[in-house]
Amino acid sequence: MNWNCVPDDHPTPSLIVAEDIVRDNLRSMQEYCNNNNLKLRPHTKTHKSIRMAKAQIDAGASGLTVAKVGEAQVMSQASSDIMIAYPAVGTCRLQRLVALARNHRLRVGIDSQLAAEMLQDAARQANVRIEILADVDVGFHRTGIVDANKAVELCEFVERQSHLSVVGLMCFPGHILPNAQEQLWAEYAECLQRVVHGCNQKGIQIATISGGSTPTARQSHLNPLLTEIRPGTYIYNDLNEVRLGVCTLDQCAARILATIVSTPAADKFIVDAGSKTLSSDRNAANQDAGFGYVVEYPHAKITRLSEEHGEITLPANQSTETPPPRVGDRVWIIPNHICVCVNLQNSFYRMDGDSVEESTVDARGMLI
Ligand SMILES: Cc1ncc(COP(=O)(O)O)c(C=O)c1O
Repeated sequence: MNWNCVPDDHPTPSLIVAEDIVRDNLRSMQEYCNNNNLKLRPHTKTHKSIRMAKAQIDAGASGLTVAKVGEAQVMSQASSDIMIAYPAVGTCRLQRLVALARNHRLRVGIDSQLAAEMLQDAARQANVRIEILADVDVGFHRTGIVDANKAVELCEFVERQSHLSVVGLMCFPGHILPNAQEQLWAEYAECLQRVVHGCNQKGIQIATISGGSTPTARQSHLNPLLTEIRPGTYIYNDLNEVRLGVCTLDQCAARILATIVSTPAADKFIVDAGSKTLSSDRNAANQDAGFGYVVEYPHAKITRLSEEHGEITLPANQSTETPPPRVGDRVWIIPNHICVCVNLQNSFYRMDGDSVEESTVDARGMLI
């Protein structure tokens, strides 16, 4: 990939996405899923772009995932089959959701009967059907039902509702890292198996079991119960994934182009990308590792962020071969957490061969 084809007068800070790396990332994840009989339902919170969502569908994804109903509204332009992997609670959310369900297939992950009742009421009033996945806590301890019997009870309750139906289970195995012991994978499968067994005994068929996020997406075959996965970050990758050993720096498709605006000391320079560009997210693998990776200065550390300033410290033994940073020079930064970073930008630039084109971050700030 030739990142240098971005013109010298390109505005900074800006988020630039290499389309050829995106294509490779989409193709390899789709290939993994095809080879392992898994459906791929990518989480669009990473790119928030209709164009990128369409590329995922074109590459073979069976539908899309979102967290928020506002994101579903935007992504309905890319797919007619959307999963809201987040409890859609609250009148404002439900009204929008049922309006969308008039001409889209909507699935929602929930973990309470109260959420089911709210969905049922809204769906009945709008005369639409909503598909439900019971959210099972497989060990990450965020949302999700811990007790298998309670998960089965939720499925039974949903099945009794006139405008809802159970299509399966969802989970988020965020506690499992790429180097996890087999035992953890076995426990993960057992959590789901208990619910499947309980549902089957009550005559409820579980057709879909939806799991997976980028760190362990390509190990999903270790849990044979899964029928689909929902990775999001894999489309761009980021420094978190690199440090987890999930991808290489060359597989990171999104970088921030920044300009050096000050060189206050021999070992320090300031770029025009601060927390409003990079986000304040620390590296998930090492909280002390700084706020991203500076490609031109691989041993440097982004030590401190203000809103519009990124402070970068060079190590004492910085090689003399590396040209010292000068005001006006540009650097490429691979952010720690690309999803949050994308949500901070109005637009991003797609780089393909020699062409660099601006695209909107369509679902930016869709928090409802
Ligand atoms: C419910 C759910 N599913 C899928 C994902 C995708 O995870 P990742 O971005 O690590 O691929 C997330 C990420 O936060 C999530 O919360």
